[in-house]
Amino acid sequence: MINYTLLENSIALISFDMKNSTMNVLNQESIAAFDEAFDKAVKDANVKGIIVTSDKKEFIAGADLKMIAAVKTPEQVMEKSGVLHKLYRKMETCGKPVVAAINGIALGGGFELCLASHFRIAINDSKTQIGLPEVLLGLLPGAGGTQRLPRMIGIEQALPLLLEGKKLRPEQALEKGLVNKLVATKEELIPAAVEWIKTVGKKVQPWDDKGFKIPGGGVQTPTGVRVFMAGSALLQKKTFGNYPAPTAIMNSVYEGLQLDFDRALKVEMRYFTQCAMSQVAKNMIRTLFFTMNAANSGAARPKDVPANTLTKVGVLGAGMMGAGIAYVSAVAGLNVVLKDRSIEDAEKGKAYSVKLLNEKVSKGHMTKEKAEEILARIVTTADPKAVEGSELIIEAVFEDRALKASVTKETEAVLAPTAVYASNTSTLPITGLAEASVRPENFIGIHFFSPVDKMQLVEIILGKNTSDYAIAMAIDYVKRIKKTPIVVNDGRAFYTSRIFSTYIAEGLNMLQEGIAPSLIENAGKAAGMPVGPLAVADEVSIELMYKINKQTEKDLGKVNEGAEAKVGRLFMETLNRPGKKAGKGFYEYPTDGGKKHLWSGLAEHFPLAKEQPDVELLKKRLLHYQALNAVKCLEENVLTSPRDGDIGSILGWGFPPYTGGIFSYIDMIGVRQFVEDCKTLATAYGARFNPPALLEEMAKTGKKFYEEKTEKAVA
Ligand code: NAI
Repeated sequence: MINYTLLENSIALISFDMKNSTMNVLNQESIAAFDEAFDKAVKDANVKGIIVTSDKKEFIAGADLKMIAAVKTPEQVMEKSGVLHKLYRKMETCGKPVVAAINGIALGGGFELCLASHFRIAINDSKTQIGLPEVLLGLLPGAGGTQRLPRMIGIEQALPLLLEGKKLRPEQALEKGLVNKLVATKEELIPAAVEWIKTVGKKVQPWDDKGFKIPGGGVQTPTGVRVFMAGSALLQKKTFGNYPAPTAIMNSVYEGLQLDFDRALKVEMRYFTQCAMSQVAKNMIRTLFFTMNAANSGAARPKDVPANTLTKVGVLGAGMMGAGIAYVSAVAGLNVVLKDRSIEDAEKGKAYSVKLLNEKVSKGHMTKEKAEEILARIVTTADPKAVEGSELIIEAVFEDRALKASVTKETEAVLAPTAVYASNTSTLPITGLAEASVRPENFIGIHFFSPVDKMQLVEIILGKNTSDYAIAMAIDYVKRIKKTPIVVNDGRAFYTSRIFSTYIAEGLNMLQEGIAPSLIENAGKAAGMPVGPLAVADEVSIELMYKINKQTEKDLGKVNEGAEAKVGRLFMETLNRPGKKAGKGFYEYPTDGGKKHLWSGLAEHFPLAKEQPDVELLKKRLLHYQALNAVKCLEENVLTSPRDGDIGSILGWGFPPYTGGIFSYIDMIGVRQFVEDCKTLATAYGARFNPPALLEEMAKTGKKFYEEKTEKAVA
């Protein structure tokens, strides 16, 4: 767990090395073992200085979140946080110089340990990340981070790091003062730490020195007052009060920095406890940590299928999606054949990788050689035979059934029988597309989001005949490109596109009712969605929604009378306002680079109702409508678990992370209450709000999607 070595120059080397784990984390056992080793070094009169490091690839990834998720009472939280406070305080006041030798990732509680050391040296490795990302899981750095960091680098520098949870690369950490020195290689790390102890060896923290002043000025100085005033306003604008942690961080820094260090830690403990006990932290930890880690590690992969060797991927269509898919695949070390109708089109797709890689090189995030190596893995072609030997095909040609069918046939003709064929279609059911295939069991959907290189989620869609072998291949591939997969069953628009469109649809219902467009947009943002429903409709394009609706009407043989269809027809057939790309949709996009603004003509087509509703009601409509439709996906077996639904909602279309995702949102409100709400909304706004039978049943039996004790999802 902890390795203790006495170096020849009377320096104790304490290394974290947790057994049966690839990462070091801070849990009860590792903290106790470290505490014991540290005491040993302090008590040994021969020891002149202490170096803390790790024998694993990473330093310390943070506190074990299982420990935090398990606490039930504020007293338990305080006890846990008190243990670290005491230990870290002991480190910095032990009377011997302590150096943190950061050999890899040092985050959260792991970096707070470094802050409690007198000196910090890190290896300048591009994989190393340093920072305090607790806020991203609804927490605050509760092991002294909110107190030590601002005392070390000043309030103005520290607050953004604490509030945004940014993970820094070593050079950034050095520039901002989070670490004191970088070394180029692992071999130089411990000698550099020894050298510092021997030559400088300061054993008192600045804040324990007499006459200490906070760098840049304290809370009550003009700088401090300005930073907190501006910070509070910005915070409210960004979070709409949905996230307790950023406010707690601001308060902890504000109050703590006006006190002596030990009393400041008590303030931090109080705010940490508040956050750790909050429903928001529980939601975020469950979905964004536990569920996401499970998905990333391939929890949904059929266990009996042997591991795949994946070396060559064929990408058909080098347009917007194909270009991105080729890039992420090549970055992951796969050989890519990028095929389009002409070699020029294929080259255009490859140019996207050239652009992204050049940016990396010019920013110093990648060497030129590495970039060239990646580019060399993408071979462009117009010849369908060139994909021969690919273990996996990802088709991203135009969204056209007949075209996709002919591409499937010509490609399969050169593939081995074991090759898996995946379509990136966004709307066409996989079972139907698989009809063109001679091996429908090897046919699957791998649905990426745009822009492919930035979006973390991939939706894997199973056709009626898709085999476990194909599922395993798809999951292995998604894992390889370091994205997060969810697995869903076939159905119109699958899961993410289907539910995402309900957000827009409800916004358009509101528009038709005469609710002020600006009020609709603000309600969306205040509910925690990244942008308002009208802005998002412009972004995905009103034209695309119109086309999809036309196709659906054709397929189902009936006219859609929903708001989204009506408004789509008006905007495309009468007004010619297709969306953002065309520079006109619900918004105007000034060509002189001015800020976009709602189109004034909306007032003529959607006259304002005399009475405007409360924003709380609109927020509820926008979120509830999405959530009840997600439940329908579960009922219809499009989704097989609330966990996939939760992850997919946050990563796929930005359902507010504070809820923990769309099913956690219902749990947070309470299933019974949610059903009541839906009934009230159905009476006021129509049958679309009627609660699905599954929810009514759950309300009756008192079931939730996540049972606290076991943390097991119901379906
Ligand atoms: P795009 O229009 O940018 O690219 C399509 C490419 O396919 C073009 O370069 C075209 O020349 C090529 N192509 C046409 N026939 C071909 C053939 N026989 N062989 C090889 N290449 C051929 O379209 P985009 O946006 O990249 O979409 C591609 C697919 O991905 C569609 O099925 C779309 O529904 C889906 N999709 C699109 C998303 C988006 O945000 N644009 C998101 C997720 C999926």
